[in-house]
Formats: sequence, C-alpha cells, structure tokens
Amino acid sequence: MGPTKWPGDGLRMHGITKEFPGTRALSGVDLHVKYGEVVSLLGENGAGKSTLMKVLSGVYMADGGHMTLNEEPYRPTGPRDAAAAGVALIHQELSLLPNLSIAENIFIGRQPTRLGFVDRQTMNRDAAGYLERVGLRLDPRTSAGACSVAVQQQVEIAKALAQDPRILVFDEPTASLGGDEVEILYQIVAGLKQAGVGIVWITHRLDEVAHVADAVVVLRDGARVAAWDHPAVRVEQMIEAMVGRSIDTIYPDPRTPSDEVLLSVSDLARTGEFEGVTFDLHRGEILGVAGLVGAGRSEMVSTLIGARPATAGTITLRGNRHAMRSPIDGVRAGMALVPEDRKGQGLAQRLTVADNIALPKRAFLHGVVDNRGLRQQVQGAKERVELRGHLSQLAMTLSGGNQQKAVIAKWLMLDPEIIIFDEPTRGIDVGAKAAIYEIIHELAAKGVGIIVVSSELPEVLGLSNRVLVLSHGKQTGILDRDNADETSVMTLAVAG
Ligand SMILES: Nc1ncnc2c1ncn2[C@@H]1O[C@H](COP(=O)(O)OP(=O)(O)OP(=O)(O)O)[C@@H](O)[C@H]1O
Ligand SMILES: [Mg+2]
Repeated sequence: MGPTKWPGDGLRMHGITKEFPGTRALSGVDLHVKYGEVVSLLGENGAGKSTLMKVLSGVYMADGGHMTLNEEPYRPTGPRDAAAAGVALIHQELSLLPNLSIAENIFIGRQPTRLGFVDRQTMNRDAAGYLERVGLRLDPRTSAGACSVAVQQQVEIAKALAQDPRILVFDEPTASLGGDEVEILYQIVAGLKQAGVGIVWITHRLDEVAHVADAVVVLRDGARVAAWDHPAVRVEQMIEAMVGRSIDTIYPDPRTPSDEVLLSVSDLARTGEFEGVTFDLHRGEILGVAGLVGAGRSEMVSTLIGARPATAGTITLRGNRHAMRSPIDGVRAGMALVPEDRKGQGLAQRLTVADNIALPKRAFLHGVVDNRGLRQQVQGAKERVELRGHLSQLAMTLSGGNQQKAVIAKWLMLDPEIIIFDEPTRGIDVGAKAAIYEIIHELAAKGVGIIVVSSELPEVLGLSNRVLVLSHGKQTGILDRDNADETSVMTLAVAG
C-alpha cells in the first residue's frame, strides 16, 4: 500500500515576521511543510523556532507575512481553529493540567459525550489506545501530575495523535526521552509519514536529523539562514549554519579530584524508588549518574538534597551527618540542585529573569540586601551561562533553552560546595552546551563536588571522573573513567 497523501501541497509560510517588545523574534521566514515529509527545524536557543511554530499553530498571530494550506489562505485565529484545520503542535514545555487525569488531558475540550454527559468509559478506552501507540502501558485515569517528565512528554504526543492532524509539529520531543522511547517515536513518525502527515521536527540532537528528516531548515536570530531539501547534511554543516562558526572539542578531560571526601552516602534508600546507593564524592570530582528512564536517578538526587526524605541510609557532609529533611537543609549545607523539570521546579514563570536569578541568594541573605551588588552578580551569572534574553523579561517568555540557563545561573549565585545537575543540557543548543560543560569544569577546578545526571551517554562519559549506574532503582556499579564506555555503562544499566 502506497502512502495515502493528502491532496494539495501542504502548508507554506511566506515572509513571516513577529516582534515582541524589545525582540524581533522572526524576520521574513519561509517554510514549506510537505505532506508525507519531515522537515527538521534547527537553530540556537532563542533563534525563533518555537515562535515560528506557534504562528503555524495559531498560538500567535504573525505581524507580517502569510500562510497557505493546500494553496488556500490559512489564517488560524487560535490553536483550536488550527486544530480544526488539521494543524497540531506538541509544545516544548509540558502543558498538561496536573489535576486532570491523563484521559481528560488527551481529550480536553472535546470529551466524548453520551446523552449530554462525558462518556468516561469511551474516553478512557480511547485514551488507552493512544497511550499504547506511544508505548505507554498506563491507567488513563492516573492524574497527569503524578507522572514523570518523560511520561508526560509521551502523553503530550498521544494527545496530538488523538487530534488526527495532517500537519504535526514536534517541538523538541526527545529532550526528556530515553533511547527506547525515542525508538518508538521514530516508528510513530514513520507511520505518520506513511499516512501522508506533514511533520516539523525541532531538535538540538543533531544526530536525529539523519534518522527522521527529509529536509532541513536552519534559523539564526529569527532569519532563515540555510536550507537543504535532503537529509544528507553533515553535523558540522548544520552547526556552522546555526552558530555561524565551527565548534570543536566540547569535552575537555576532567582533572584528578582531591582525596578529600565532601559527601559520603551510605545505603541510601527510598521505599519503592531506589535502594543501596553508596558512594563518596571528592572535592573537585565530577560524578556522572547514568541509567535508563525510570531507573530512579532523579528520585535519588532529589533525596540527596532533601526534597524527598530518605527511608534508610545516611548522608555525611564534610564529616557531619545530615538529616536532609527539606531542600532548605540541603542549601544550608552548601548543596544545590539544578532540577530536571525547569517549568515545574526551576523558575517562577511570572517573575522577571533577574528576580528569578536573585531568588535563592536573596532568600539566604537574611534581610541585608546590597541591591547594587546583587544586580551586578545577577548580570555576571547571566553572562556566565550565556543566557540570551533581557533581565527584565518574564521567565515564561524566555526560549526553552534560555530558561534552563536561567535555572543554572540562579544556583551558581549561591556558590555551592556541591552542585547536582539533573539533565543540565536538555534543550540546550550545541554552542551553549560547550559553555555549560566549561562551567562544570571550572567549578570542579575550584574544588566544587559535582554530580551530573544525564540520559545522554556521551555527555556522562565525556564529563565524568567516575560514573555511577542505577538500574531499576538499584546501584549496579561505579565505573572509573578508564573503564567507562557505552558498553560497560549499558551493561550495568540493564543489570539487576
Ligand atoms: N512571549 C514572548 N514575549 C517576549 N519575548 C519572547 C516571547 N516568546 C519568545 N520570545 C523571544 O523570542 C525569541 C525567540 O524565542 P523562541 O522561543 O522562538 O526560541 P527557540 O528557537 O524556540 O529557542 P529554544 O531552542 O531555546 O527553545 C527569544 O529571544 C525569546 O526570548
Ligand atoms: Mg523553543
């Protein structure tokens, strides 16, 4: 059976411009999304990718330019209007309503009804079908807020599929997914292509382009700077187009840490989540934490910092045992956690970037605030992480990658002795990634103890002095840099 193409030539954007106060997000961008094809949209953090897709899906009105769908004028008045025309967007930031069930989220605003009432049975059954398509075996009545970031991401995809779109945008769909889920997603995309759906795929993982794309478009500073109508583009070419220069070695060799033990963790456990976690972290050491999605990595580090109490085991900091009953205990003891979920835990979306960065510092200054000094420090922290945006901008209006940088900046302000990064480069562009790796190395050189949780194996291997591996909530080993490679880590990650 050949592909059942939709009639017409798909969706075209012509000369799209969009301005926000103080920022020209898009200037005259063209894009053609053809049925049955995947166009990969690339660009640095803040280049305008999400903004362009929000115009496409009716979230924003463009200031200039026009769009056509099958050669007819296409002017969506809102996301619903776009959905009615068959255009759907899977947002970069999770947008599920935490208090609603997964099924309710999937069918929000269009629940099946019977005699005027929501037909829950049908809704839950249909939802289960869509969940299965994305590889989730999960009770659709579970509340969305109870799900991990990875699961929420998959639910977002199920929700878009349920709209049966003919133009579908994935805005960094793989940022929080592990290898297996990414494979399933590739299969879904192959199926959608076969069915003639036109797809836009935004990613910072440039190796994905070869897997999914039929065409590539690169944005820089709101303008289209390169395009290829085939996927045979070398990674260096894409980087060059994105950042206007080439980028070399991003993993400098880590230094040898000192013998001094900063943090000693013994038999740490939290019932039902993880157990038997035992390691020492030395001054100046970078300890990687690897494992598959669901291995208990994020749970483990949030217990270390005190955000969720341990049910067994001990945490000893510089020789003193610590109870760690709240994240404040952790911060007081000189620890900081850059969390995985920047939207939920990382930033106060309705405060300015400056206020967000100053927040923990202010809270620990106990009243005496030197506002000028603080402002300078905030400016310094912003530059250090290469955050692109204004300090006076609301956090919610930063691009996704720049939000992540703001979270890092805010914790750097406290000069912690131990800093835990949970997926530090999720959604961060190649250039800024290199900057964050440099920051991690600088901190280690200054004697900070660092723990890096990452689903990107090359990142864990490239950065760490040692790699701790979790599998199904159990610590299955700690590998020295010399013994850690993809095979040895993966072997431990599936052990137990
Ligand atoms: N609602 C808004 N108000 C003000 N500025 C905005 C708003 N939305 C986006 N911007 C700005 O527009 C620019 C483009 O942002 P956009 O989110 O499109 O970037 P992106 O390419 O998706 O980046 P990332 O890879 O980090 O997600 C950025 O400078 C951002 O700060
Ligand atoms: Mg974006």
